[in-house]
Formats: sequence, C-alpha cells, structure tokens
Amino acid sequence: MTINKTETASFGVGRRESHDSSTFYGRNLYEGSFTQPLSKKKIDKIGVPSIGDWVDKIYCGSSTNMLEIPDNSIAVAFTSPPYNVGKEYDDDMSLKEYLDLITRVGKEVYRVLQPGGRYIINIANLGRKPYIPLHMFFYERHLELGYLPMGEIIWQKAKGANGSCAWGSWMSAKSPRLRDIHEYLLVFAKQDYSRPDKGVSDINREEFMESTLSVWEIPPESAKRVGHPAPFPVQLAEKVIKLYSYVDDVILDPFIGSGSTALAAIKNNRHYIGYEISEDYCEIANKRILEEKDINKLE
Ligand SMILES: C[S@@+](CC[C@H](N)C(=O)[O-])C[C@H]1O[C@@H](n2cnc3c(N)ncnc32)[C@H](O)[C@@H]1O
Repeated sequence: MTINKTETASFGVGRRESHDSSTFYGRNLYEGSFTQPLSKKKIDKIGVPSIGDWVDKIYCGSSTNMLEIPDNSIAVAFTSPPYNVGKEYDDDMSLKEYLDLITRVGKEVYRVLQPGGRYIINIANLGRKPYIPLHMFFYERHLELGYLPMGEIIWQKAKGANGSCAWGSWMSAKSPRLRDIHEYLLVFAKQDYSRPDKGVSDINREEFMESTLSVWEIPPESAKRVGHPAPFPVQLAEKVIKLYSYVDDVILDPFIGSGSTALAAIKNNRHYIGYEISEDYCEIANKRILEEKDINKLE
C-alpha cells in the first residue's frame, strides 16, 4: 500500500500516517523554554545488564536508595507515590519536603532506567480551597531531572461520582466544587522517546488502538479487599506494562504498596522489582504475589 506522507500544515491536517513533523518541532515553542533540553540524548551504547537474582523481589526499604538495582537495567517503572494527605502510611511533610522525596526517588529511577526506558507516575491533584495541582509540580521536578515528557493519560475511575455530594454550593454559582472522577498517569522517558533495543510486544490490535487513546476508563480497586489504603487496580498496571514494555522486561515499582504492579508483571510474563517502606504492606504484597504465582503455576 502506498502512503502519501503528510506534514504539519498551517491550517490543520486530516491524517497522520508517516507524518513529517519537523516543521512543527522546529518552531521556537520548542527552543529554550525548559530547564533541560527536551530533545533526545545521544546514547553511546545500549548495554542493558543481564537479569540477575535481584529481580522478582520486593525490597522492604526506601526507594530513595535502590542499591540492589544496577544502572540502566529497568525497562518500565510504574508507580503511585504516597500523597502526603494523611493516609495511614503518610508523614505530614511540607509541599517542599514532599516534592524533595519524590525528586530523590525520581533521580534513583532515572539511574536504573535503561536508555529509552519509561517512568509512568499515577498521581491525583488535591484539595479545593486551594486546589494543589500536584501533577504540575511533578512535571517541573522530573523535567529538571532530565526526563523527556511523552504524554499524559487520564485515568477515568467512574462515569459519575457515586455517592459524592461535596457540591460546595447546591445548584448555585456561589461556590460550586468540581468532583474529581479522574487521576493522571504522567509518562516520561529517559534519553530517548523510542526504545533503542529490540523485543517482543504482545499487545493485540484492539488493545493497542484502545491503549493509545489518552483516556482510560478503569474502575478503582477496593482498599478493603486488598488490605491497603490506596491500591490501584492491577488492570491499570497491566495496561501500562503491555503498552510500554516488551515480554521479559523488568518492571519496577518504587512505591509498590500491596504489590499490584508485581501482579500485573507476573500475569504478563515480565519480571518485577518493588520497594516498600512498610513491613505490613511488604507482607501483603508477597502474599498476593504467591497467590498469583499459584494461579499461573509459577515457582
Ligand atoms: C499510594 S501507595 C502505593 C499503592 C500501590 N500502587 C498498590 O496498588 O498497592 C504508596 C506506598 O508508598 C509507600 N512508601 C512511602 N514512602 C516510601 C519510600 N520512601 N520508599 C518506599 N515506599 C514508600 C507507602 O507505605 C505506600 O504503601
């Protein structure tokens, strides 16, 4: 089939196949507007270390120091960080202290990611008076660390906020409040927007078409069922893993909580590695992993 190439037009363009976007990226909008250049970096050698006995484990400790993981060894890191909002595992940090913790972990994740590896962060914004756009601060901090922004997924958790009646003011312009039914998945890459290495993708046509849309509708997980105050659904992690990693890749979650990311990795023939500071949650994660391996008849 012959595909006629398109290029950025001054009045829109209908199709995108084989699209030449050099005119678009050559504009001043992309020049010097950021603390770090957002163009891909030169990669000398791919050199991903071979998988050792450091994988398929949950480390019960802080992800500010992930000493067990060699440099450039992780294909995808996916996480939902602590929100510092008073959950049973949260400290009461100032916004600066909180963002400093997120930045320290982001720096460690950058070290262990392989070139072209991705860091996907699930985050929700907080409060109403004032509204704290945490995702904006996360962009600032991670772009400063040198991450390349690849896009943003809206995780739509519900069609309507069932049972939520935090209207602010009822049917009045006095003080209406927005009731969030979404969270964000911020997608970053290390050094290159494309993976320079080769691998096997196991995503099918329908999954690919659906997962490359920027809104994902997935119901939330029950905290009570899992035994953790803020688990994300395994289905969310599975969708991330299938879209952004190859079979047999190593998937890291630096704040793994009840182990949802590990379960998603196991279900999809990837390796996992997780860090969790609470011994109780490490125990829950390891129990869920054993159950999942049992279902999949794995050792
Ligand atoms: C939002 S929860 C993650 C939930 C997880 N996605 C799940 O599905 O269960 C954040 C987790 O980070 C853990 N945590 C907080 N500070 C940490 C640190 N410095 N290193 C590792 N884990 C930490 C908390 O104990 C909490 O379990």
